[in-house]
Parts: sequence; structure tokens; C-alpha cells
Amino acid sequence: MVTRRTVLTQGLQAGAAFAFAGFADRCLAQQTPTAHPDEMTITSAPHAQKAAPPSTLPPAMLPKEAEVLCGENSLKAHARKHGLVVGAAVSMHALQSDPAMQRLIAEQYGIVVPEGELKWRALRPAQDRFDFTESDALFAFAKAHHLEVRGHTMAWHNSVPDWLQNSSKELDVRQLLVDHIHTVAGRYRGYVQSWDVVNEAILPADGREDNLRKSFWFERIGPDYIELAFRAAHEADPHAKLTYNDYGVEYDNPEESARRVAILSLLRRLQQRKVPFDAVGIQAHIKAGSTSSIGKGLAEYIESVRQMGLEVYITEMDVNEDDLLYDDVARRDREVAATYRNFLSVALANPAVKSVLTWGVSDRHTWLNDGPTHHRKQPNRPQRSLPFDDNYRPKEAFFSIRDCIDERMA
Ligand code: XIL
Repeated sequence: MVTRRTVLTQGLQAGAAFAFAGFADRCLAQQTPTAHPDEMTITSAPHAQKAAPPSTLPPAMLPKEAEVLCGENSLKAHARKHGLVVGAAVSMHALQSDPAMQRLIAEQYGIVVPEGELKWRALRPAQDRFDFTESDALFAFAKAHHLEVRGHTMAWHNSVPDWLQNSSKELDVRQLLVDHIHTVAGRYRGYVQSWDVVNEAILPADGREDNLRKSFWFERIGPDYIELAFRAAHEADPHAKLTYNDYGVEYDNPEESARRVAILSLLRRLQQRKVPFDAVGIQAHIKAGSTSSIGKGLAEYIESVRQMGLEVYITEMDVNEDDLLYDDVARRDREVAATYRNFLSVALANPAVKSVLTWGVSDRHTWLNDGPTHHRKQPNRPQRSLPFDDNYRPKEAFFSIRDCIDERMA
């Protein structure tokens, strides 16, 4: 087996010898043009299979430290032996122009989730139009590389298009949501392992007794938008595992403890009302150097979900290292890796956990660099949050993840 020690030491020795940037440029020049836009009206949407040509994978090489981790040394192969699927969020924009990333994903992962391509803002340029260009390309890529797909997401407060946000109170938003779910989940029926039907519906700070977030969907439809969305998703794709996805359940502190209680009580209400759903997503956007620990609260939360007969997916894992006040890269990488381990050693101990996805693959692209909110303390320092560095070399975090998978008893 190729271990942490062999790869990380060889990596240091090989150092700058690997002219990755030049190689990536050459691959980029070989790219085929992207497909024509696939805009259509609600009623004319064809099934994805007819619409999307399979993407072709130009020859690509990874740095040798990553090449030796392909095949039986990959995360995917290790996960398979322990009843798990590993995956990552991908952005089609980044993927299409980067054959090396395509190879990395195809080699390392068994499942992908589009970072934005299935959100309302991407799919709905206008009330009467869908744009499936990017999402179809993603499904084609997944199909060509035998990857499963997670769908993300049908109802999320943070991806409501402006035309909808500003729409007249006369608009039947209830019907609009149902039609949207029928069209999108119907288009990809049979190709989606699980759908994050509802995302981040809980916000105790909004002050409601049921702890529901006063989101656009809540305000325009009412608390039963959640139930409505799950029922519509079940009608459109009865075989996809329908998932409630949320953040802020990872740490042992009063705030996250309250969030766990609130989410569990939402899940119980849904089950009492016989709402069809199968799984709970734990986003796992965690932090290096946090003053709170990860342990009892997370373990008990996952066990409660298991006892409800639901599966658990780790859906968006990454480690924000903005709080680390030292710049030394090796030290930061060690701390990030330890943070992955802290979380995964607790989460993977429960057999209800079936998959682990990171929110991105390499530090070349992470949402944590995009906005100021994740970057307050080190505004000019790119985050080293993911398993591969920005040249696709594996970091300590890669081996932490793989070791935790190997240690899983389930
Ligand atoms: C983020 C994407 O990574 C960004 O590119 C986008 O601008 C905003 O959304 N929780 C979620 C994800 O459920 O959809 C979010 O993704 C990150 C937080």
C-alpha cells in the first residue's frame, strides 16, 4: 500500500521537478468546445439521457504523488472495502477546463455533487425557463466515469433567483416549487443516488417555537413547504434517497446542541406525518483550531438519526483554517488533517453513515476563498482546506481521511 510517509517524502523530493502548470496548459488547449445552451420551457424539457452528449476525457496526468494514489490506493477503493462511498462537490466550470481535475475525480471518488448547477439560481434564469446546460454536462461526466450523483438542492434560502425574490404576492409559489421539483427530479430520475430536497431549514435565532428559518420558502408557502418538497421529490423520483441537509451539528457547544435538538424534532414531526424521506445530511464545514470539541454531541446525534431508521451522509466536508494564526504550511496542513480525523473518527464509527463528500477536491478551488465571511482573520491567505493542494498533490488531510476510512469497523 502506498502510505502517507512514502508519498509525502517523495513529494518533497520531487518538489518543483514536476512542471504541472505547463502540462495543464497543454491539456487545456486540447479541450473540446462545450455543448450548446439547453434552454427550454417548462413543458418541453426532455430527459437528460437524450440531451447530454458524454463528455470526452482528454489524456491527463496528475503529479506523480497523486498518480501513485490511483487504483487500489484511492479513497474510492479504500471506502468500498468499508461499506462507504467517498465523493466531492464539483463545479462544472472548473471541471470542464481542467482535464487533470477530471482524472483526479474519476480516480479518487465514487460520487459527485454539483456545487451550484442544480440550484435555483443556476437552473431558473426566468420564471418560464430552465437552463440545464451545466447540470446536463455534469450528469454526462458522471455517467462517462461511472460516478454516482447527489442532487443539491430543491429548497434553500440562499439560492432564490432575483425574479422570484421580487415576484408579486399573487404568484403561486407553492405550485412553482412543486413544478420545479417535478421537472428537475423527473429529468434526472434514475441517475441520482440522493437528493438534498431541503437545505438549512433550521435557524433557532429566528425565534420561532419550531425553530424553522424564516426563509423565502417559509414566508411564501408556510412551514409545510418542507413536507410539500419531499412529497413532490418522491413523486418525481421514487428511488432517490431523499435527504434533509443542514450544518451546525458537529460541535459540543450549546448553540450546536440546540440546533441538533431542533433538527431531530423536525425529523420526528416529518416522520409522524409520514413524509417520505430517507436520510440526513451533515454538512461538516468545520474549523481548525476551534475552541469547541467534536465528540459526544455528534455521536449521539448520528445515533438518534440511525434509530429513526434513516441513513446519514457527510455531505460538504471541509476545514476552514482561517483561525490558525501561524503561516507555516506544514504546521497548518497537520492541523487541518487532525481536524478531519477528529470529525471522521467520531462520524464513521456509526454504521448509519454511508458516504463522505468533501466540498471540493483541491485548494485550487474552494468556496472558502470566495467570500469575506470565511476569511476574516487571514484575508490574503488562500485556505488549505481540502485533501489535495492547488497542484493536486495529496496533503496530510488525504491520508487522514483514508486512515479514518480504514479504521472503520462497520
Ligand atoms: C456554496 C458554493 O460553494 C458557492 O460557490 C456558492 O456561491 C454558495 O453556495 N452550504 C451549502 C452549499 O449547502 O450549497 C454552499 O455552497 C455552501 C454551504
